[in-house]
Amino acid sequence: MTVLHPLQKSIEQHFAAGAAAVSDAGAMAAFLELRAALERGEVRSAEPDAASPSGWRVNAWVKQGILLGFRLGVLEETAAGALTFIDKHTFPARHFGVHDGMRIVAGGSAVRAGAHIGKGVICVPPMYVNTGAYVDENAMVDSHALVGSCAQIGKRVHLSAAAQIGGVLEPVNANPVVIEDDVLVGGNCGIYEGAIVRKGAVLAAGTVLTRGTPVFDLVTGDVLRASGDMPLIIPENAVVVPGSRAVSKGKGHPSADAWGLSLYAPVIVKYRDDKTNLSTALEELLR
Ligand SMILES: CC(C)(COP(=O)(O)OP(=O)(O)OC[C@H]1O[C@@H](n2cnc3c(N)ncnc32)[C@H](O)[C@@H]1OP(=O)(O)O)[C@@H](O)C(=O)NCCC(=O)NCCS
Repeated sequence: MTVLHPLQKSIEQHFAAGAAAVSDAGAMAAFLELRAALERGEVRSAEPDAASPSGWRVNAWVKQGILLGFRLGVLEETAAGALTFIDKHTFPARHFGVHDGMRIVAGGSAVRAGAHIGKGVICVPPMYVNTGAYVDENAMVDSHALVGSCAQIGKRVHLSAAAQIGGVLEPVNANPVVIEDDVLVGGNCGIYEGAIVRKGAVLAAGTVLTRGTPVFDLVTGDVLRASGDMPLIIPENAVVVPGSRAVSKGKGHPSADAWGLSLYAPVIVKYRDDKTNLSTALEELLR
């Protein structure tokens, strides 16, 4: 049985109160408590749950708490040198110290309040981690990478340059994007709409996954798709590369005046082997 978090009831009540929460000091206190717990990694917008068919449980109340923070926030101007920023005062950029045990290299990066960054994480500029996201220990977030709101990034994950991990804040019960431990997300990948990438998988540069993208597994012969409550799930240790498939409908149909089009199709070419481990041993020397 799931044990209720001490903050859950209070967050749910303040969220349900709508506009009335704005003048309620208790609402702000509950939100600030939640934000601090998120940053410490004590609560998460989604967490592993063996009892759930996808292996992950969404904590809708946590997402409600984040939305409550947007409702309670008023626009505030902040500055860094000559640059000015305007955002809800409830979601400032996070400040870090050496005691946090992570590295954030100088130059154009930000981690928004309410995001958790684990020990040993390396953030290479420019990168951005949005609120509610959870980046676990020893992950690497490379230049131009985005970790969208509520996304869950596992231990030792490598988010390569320009990898985009989409945010999923609403609806509150929707799965965020989950990248499990030891995954390599290649350069320019885009993972959106609650897709789950299981442990050890490798996404070759340029792979894009959405809820509507079928993935073709050459090894098992399966075509993987999202359906109903289940998101698109990339299996453990799968090596996925961006491919294409012939269009067989309409003008794509083989005929004299056909356009000869093909559609983007991610393909599982194999499951991780020694060669993959060699190809993905990227940044050990940087640590
Ligand atoms: C996926 C990757 C890790 C290669 O893994 P690997 O296990 O060494 O793969 P292999 O070379 O054994 O290739 C397996 C098959 O997939 C194909 N393949 C491999 N990488 C591919 C790619 N990026 N696009 C299309 N096909 C690819 C190979 O041609 C091979 O098919 P074949 O046997 O029909 O020729 C590598 O291509 C990759 O994308 N690395 C990430 C690069 C990157 O983004 N670095 C970030 C730096 S910031």
